[in-house]
Order: sequence, then C-alpha cells, then structure tokens
Amino acid sequence: MQAGFWVLEGIDGCGKSTQAKLLCQTLKAAGRRPLHLREPGSTALGEGLRRLLLEPGRSDWDARAEALVFFAARRELLVKEIRPALAAGRDVVCERFTGSTYAYQGQDSAAEAAWILDLDRLVVGDDQPHLHLILDLNPEESFARVGREAPKDAFETRGVAFQQKVREAYLRFAHEKGSTAAVLKVGGRSIEDIAQEVGEAVERARP
Ligand code: ADP
Ligand code: TYD
Repeated sequence: MQAGFWVLEGIDGCGKSTQAKLLCQTLKAAGRRPLHLREPGSTALGEGLRRLLLEPGRSDWDARAEALVFFAARRELLVKEIRPALAAGRDVVCERFTGSTYAYQGQDSAAEAAWILDLDRLVVGDDQPHLHLILDLNPEESFARVGREAPKDAFETRGVAFQQKVREAYLRFAHEKGSTAAVLKVGGRSIEDIAQEVGEAVERARP
C-alpha cells in the first residue's frame, strides 16, 4: 500500500495534537514510518512565520495578507517536508492545512472562502491530502478543556463566538472537499474511541 497524507483539522483544543500523536503510534505499530508535522511550523521559515502570526496582541492584518502568510508557510512545508516524505514511502500526519485558512481567514464571506480555495489550487495543486479529518467539537467544550488560564495566542483570544464561526466554516470546507474530507463528532467521547475512528477512516482512504 502507498503512503498517505493525513490532515487533522478543527477548532483550537478539539484534540488535533492528541489524535495526531495516537495516529502516528498506530501507524508505527503497523510498520509504517509516519512524519508528524504541524502548521504553521515544522520548517525554519514556518516556525518564524508562526511566531509572527500567533504573537498575542499583534495588530489586525488584512485577512488576505494573513492568508498569504499561512500559505507561504504551507508551501515551504509541502516542498521541504511533505513531498520528500511521501516520495520516500512515509505517511505524513499534519495538524492543520488549507482547512484552517478556509475556516479562520475565510469564514466571513463566500467570496473570501472561494479566494482561499483558488489559492489552494495554485499553491497546493495536485499535492492534496488523501484525507482531511475534521474533529467537530462545540467551542464551549473545548474552552472548558483548555482552561481559561492557559496561554492564549492571537486567535484563541477571540473567544467562543469566533470559534463557533470557525466550526461552521469547517463544515462548509468538508462539503467543498467531498470524499477527501470526513467530519468526526468528538464531543463527550473518549480519546481512545476517537483514535479508533481516526485510524479506520485513514485506512479506508489510503491510496
Ligand atoms: P488541539 O491540538 O486541537 O489544540 P489537544 O490535542 O492539545 O487539542 O487537546 C486539548 C486538550 O484537550 C488537552 O488537554 C487534551 O488532553 C484534551 N483532550 C483531547 N481529547 C480529549 C477528549 N476526547 N476528551 C477530553 N479531553 C480531551
Ligand atoms: P495552534 O496552537 O497550532 O493550534 P491549536 O490551538 O488548535 O493547538 O495555533 C495555530 C493557530 O493559527 C490557531 O488558532 C489557528 C490559526 N491558523 C489560522 O488562522 N489559519 C491557518 O491557515 C492556520 C494553519 C492556523
């Protein structure tokens, strides 16, 4: 079987890191050599841009300028890490990808969302993930998990109403991506139960 490119998406605190780690463990147990990445980050350029983007209290940027910076980090990750890993037969597990730009920077209008999908076609092109796994959770539940005293980045400080719009935009993104997206309801479920469903969805979508 070929290597696969798997993306975990969802609002802040929905369980992406937790599930990405468990998916990597499952893949390793099956004899694979998964590469675990996160966006923005996982390259020198990406980590630099991450610091700029997530700095608490930074000024508001034009939404398209912000989206372009996320896509710059994405392009670097694609060329430096994702393509070489897949070419070497390694699975790639990535926390966040184009779905995040669609849900965070493209949430306010259909025109912005369409512009981001156009950028995705230009920048990511044929190197699309085999599966976007969207972990769908009520923002109230994620806020209760993460705790109000936890350190907040530039996006987390925007509160429950913003995260609710992110959540709804993810559902539209899933619709846009059709059979290469899956929405997993994760509210009130154990980490192990979700991990099992994630593992099954990945093997069903494996090229
Ligand atoms: P994300 O990467 O999406 O921000 P994390 O994986 O860091 O989310 O999880 C956020 C918090 O929620 C962590 O404290 C984690 O242990 C906890 N968590 C993750 N999955 C679950 C779950 N199914 N039920 C309860 N708590 C969870
Ligand atoms: P991160 O700490 O990686 O995510 P989480 O809080 O879910 O563990 O923070 C990344 C932040 O950047 C997150 O709030 C979402 C935001 N983001 C965008 O707004 N657009 C994007 O394209 C990406 C990749 C992330």
